[in-house]
Amino acid sequence: MTDTAPAKRLYIKTYGCQMNVYDSERMADVLRPLGYGVTDDPEWADLVVLNTCHIREKATEKVYSELGQIKLMKSRKAAGGGTMTIAVAGCVAQAEGEEIMRRQPAVDLVVGPQAYHQLPELIARAHRSTGERLSADFAADDKFDALPRDRHVTGVTAFLTVQEGCDKFCTFCVVPYTRGGEWSRPADDVVAEARVLAAKGVREVTLLGQNVNAYDGCEGGLADLARQLAKIDGIDRIRYTTSHPRDMDEALIAAHGEVPELMPFLHLPVQSGSDRILKAMNRAHTAESYVRLIEKIRAARPDIALSGDFIVGFPGERDSDFEATLNLVREVGYASAFSFKYSRRPGTPASAMPGQVATQVMDERLQRLNALLQEQQEAFNRSVVGRTEPVLIEKLGRNPGQIGGRSPWLQPVHIEGPERLIGQIVPVRLDGATRNSLSGSLVLETV
Ligand code: 5AD
Ligand code: SF4
Repeated sequence: MTDTAPAKRLYIKTYGCQMNVYDSERMADVLRPLGYGVTDDPEWADLVVLNTCHIREKATEKVYSELGQIKLMKSRKAAGGGTMTIAVAGCVAQAEGEEIMRRQPAVDLVVGPQAYHQLPELIARAHRSTGERLSADFAADDKFDALPRDRHVTGVTAFLTVQEGCDKFCTFCVVPYTRGGEWSRPADDVVAEARVLAAKGVREVTLLGQNVNAYDGCEGGLADLARQLAKIDGIDRIRYTTSHPRDMDEALIAAHGEVPELMPFLHLPVQSGSDRILKAMNRAHTAESYVRLIEKIRAARPDIALSGDFIVGFPGERDSDFEATLNLVREVGYASAFSFKYSRRPGTPASAMPGQVATQVMDERLQRLNALLQEQQEAFNRSVVGRTEPVLIEKLGRNPGQIGGRSPWLQPVHIEGPERLIGQIVPVRLDGATRNSLSGSLVLETV
């Protein structure tokens, strides 16, 4: 995101999940009325926000090393008579609080995910105060009510947060501690925001939540919300992420078969294929119940593509458990996936479990799992070659004369075509596939 000719320059660096991408956009929204425009160069920024992620340990350490770099920029700016305010937001802010300022005194303020609407006030206070630094009060008040509805829209797709937090307490995960309990935004608010987005040219919304399918901001849950959003003129595509298998209820499965706007792509993390490990993870599903769930979803929407998250090297994971994960992957067949080495997060139950797995073993398992998942992703991409499918054109391509969009299955598609098609859903013949994307050509009538 880059704005032109701002009075003050705001640099936001986003780590982690799509929820954070969305939050960063909203922070830019609340700061815009104060004269902040977004820059992608931190060196001369007046305000630097690191929107952090805490889910794996490396991410936290990356934040501290980035802060070291930014501190140098702040010093260089101060030497030239300028100022730079440094803010840390997101889950590291939530988890570490004041500790961040102790470890890196150049930080001016720390603000947790529930308090972004307070950013203007916090920044004003940071400017006024000399010497004294502040941190946010992490009270979970109504963040969304206080944020402007009138969002700054930069493209034809947009994220829309509908749910936050998690009560599932998977034993490896910090989210229930950093983002708090499950909370859903009232459906009327979501629909109102989606209307604003549609009026600004957005054609596709991705509903976000740590446990988005646990959404209960209206009586009929996420299925009902999707049906309401599908009725809005201009909203032609609806996606949602991330879901938990245990909240994938009959109504939502049925909606996949009945609401054409719901795209045939579902991110449904399983984490492991071993029941012993799933139990230790407190996932509340077995490998078999997950596979049966996938079968049901496929019965409702036969062309649905699956995506998942996997952890290798959870404490106590034996070779046979890992083999069970590979078998589950082979049985389900994924169109895309994320796989992670288990990361020991202090305070979570798994961090104290016996049988922590050696890094080398994790590395080997991750490599094998990735090889299989990549093979599946490539095979999935190849499977659509030769077909003509609707592609939402999102942006100009990398080379002149190229445009880029997404298939219904979230595959990036590169096409030769005119800029004026941006924002349209056009039939595209899919000609070629690589592991990560497709190439296609416009079907003649649309040119
Ligand atoms: N170690 C490794 N991966 C983790 N995830 C969450 N916590 C951890 C952890 N401690 C992964 C899960 C989750 C995704 C967002 O991040 O797979 O689905
Ligand atoms: Fe973390 Fe599990 Fe909640 Fe997902 S469902 S956010 S992995 S605790």
